[in-house]
Amino acid sequence: MATLGFIGSGNIGTALSRLAVSAGIDVVLSNSRGPETLAETVAELGERARAATPEEAARAGDWVIVSVPLAAYRKLPAAALAGKVMLDTSNYYPMRDGNFEVLDSGETTTSELVQEHLADAKLVKAFNNISDFHIPALARPVDAADRTALPIAGDDPQAKASAADLISRLGFDTVDAGPLAESWRFEPETDPYTAPYFTDPDATRAGWAKLAEAIRSGAPMEMPPSDDPGAPLPAAQLRTLLAETSRKLTADRVLA
Ligand SMILES: NC(=O)c1ccc[n+]([C@@H]2O[C@H](COP(=O)([O-])OP(=O)(O)OC[C@H]3O[C@@H](n4cnc5c(N)ncnc54)[C@H](OP(=O)(O)O)[C@@H]3O)[C@@H](O)[C@H]2O)c1
Repeated sequence: MATLGFIGSGNIGTALSRLAVSAGIDVVLSNSRGPETLAETVAELGERARAATPEEAARAGDWVIVSVPLAAYRKLPAAALAGKVMLDTSNYYPMRDGNFEVLDSGETTTSELVQEHLADAKLVKAFNNISDFHIPALARPVDAADRTALPIAGDDPQAKASAADLISRLGFDTVDAGPLAESWRFEPETDPYTAPYFTDPDATRAGWAKLAEAIRSGAPMEMPPSDDPGAPLPAAQLRTLLAETSRKLTADRVLA
């Protein structure tokens, strides 16, 4: 029986826990406020789900999905995550997370920063380049003709293979983007970042620019539509996007 632990059970954690339960995988959810605050989500997920502390979720998981705001990375339980295949969904948004000089300068990537804190975890960056609402919309059974591909990056080949196996069971193909040092290739506003999974990627990027302008000017904000049905992204197309993208440092981004 496989178990998937979650540290962070918000938009991404919940979306992935639903797919896991549907795939016959037990889930252990956790958040910062305590297991009792997850009772409703656990009830919705059914008998394969329970809630626990982050340490317990980490120890219980054959894999652990860490899906918290980047600013919380130093609070992650390093001892409990030692030796675990850990999928890191984090993105860096300075307006939310505060500024990290090493990220603004491109000296390192978000997942390398997290890996530095969790030195003994086998970190694989995954699920950070797809919007939460496209996770259920684009997940497909393993034999479907229109499977969507997601990039992964990591420094441990066996951990990457194990993460790819999990991701496949959850409904997606994977493309290996290389070690964590290359994971900038699918960080915010690069070519593979969220827009290609929308039905109209150009309109989505234009929407980011409009949102950024509204934030700057104090005008009413129009969030990108969360009812977009999504567009399957085949592996070959994702490989091209990963190969051809340029790096987007904080200063190059419209939304940071
Ligand atoms: N939303 C998206 O579409 C999307 C897409 C790709 C990647 N991401 C990235 O994935 C990460 C999570 O995003 P999200 O939208 O799922 O965030 P979210 O809805 O705000 O959920 C964050 C979760 O992290 C938990 N958390 C915060 N600090 C924690 C700590 N110290 N220990 C344990 N749990 C903690 C929160 O628990 P409490 O509520 O109890 O504080 C909450 O369950 C972010 O880095 C985000 O940038 C998001």
